Order: sequence, then structure tokens, then C-alpha cells
Amino acid sequence: MSDTKRIVLSSDHAAIDLRQAVATHVAAKGYEVVDIGPTTTETTHYPLHGKAAAERVASGDCDLGIILCGTGQGIMMAANKVPGIRCGVCSDTFSASMIRAHNNANMLSIGARVVGEGLALAIVDAYLDAEFEGGRHGTRVDMIEG
Ligand code: RB5
Repeated sequence: MSDTKRIVLSSDHAAIDLRQAVATHVAAKGYEVVDIGPTTTETTHYPLHGKAAAERVASGDCDLGIILCGTGQGIMMAANKVPGIRCGVCSDTFSASMIRAHNNANMLSIGARVVGEGLALAIVDAYLDAEFEGGRHGTRVDMIEG
């Protein structure tokens, strides 16, 4: 990694423990972690946290984002409503690599009730270690943005 990237993390109550494991893992890889919570397991609403994290990325405050909820689906849908956000939910390492390489995804979503911690951290590695390939993929990503 040539320059330190800031990565925003958020989740709902269903993924507090996994988010903390991801935070530790991402920090150990040399990234700057901006964990915007929540910090308790009190029931909350995933759209709030998906939107808050997405706005950190869309504004340029953070380079990338990793968000989590029970399935990863709801918080991903909320994040993708923020202009400029391309977030994919992944349960396998191939997809995690490809959403970066081909789709230039600036956010990754993971389901804490879908994958265990070991696979989740491997998904994070696959996502962060991949690079956008540009070229024809850039043309297609531009078409997503309209
Ligand atoms: C919360 O019970 C659950 O609905 C949420 O974590 C997520 O799975 C929604 O997509």
C-alpha cells in the first residue's frame, strides 16, 4: 500500500462483534480506521448507519467503506442511495476482489449472520488487496454513474 487510506466502518446491532474484528484486522493491515459505530448492541436501524458511512466516502473524508448488518443487504441498499457510492455485498472472496477490480466499488458490505469471522476477514482482504483495472471497466462504471 503506497499511501495510507482512511476506511470508514459502520454496522447495525446485528454486526457489532464482527465490525470490531474487521476494525482490528483493517488497522493491522496499515489502514486508518474511522469507526463511526454504533458501540452498543441496542437495536438500531441499518439505513441510518449505511447512509452515514456512505456520506463519509462520498464527501471524500474517507477513501473506502466497509459496512455490515445481519445479511449485509439492507445496509448496502441504504449506502447505494448516496450519489457516488458503489457498494456490493459479498459472501465470497472472488466477488469481493471483483467488485473492486471491475466495478471500482468504494464500499463493501458483509452479512454478519451469513459468514463467519474467518471468511469475513478473508473477504475484507480480497476487497482491499484488489485494484481497479480501469479501461473497459471504467467505461462501464461511468455508465452506472449516468
Ligand atoms: C436486523 O434484524 C436485520 O434486519 C438487519 O441486520 C439486516 O439483516 C437487514 O438487511
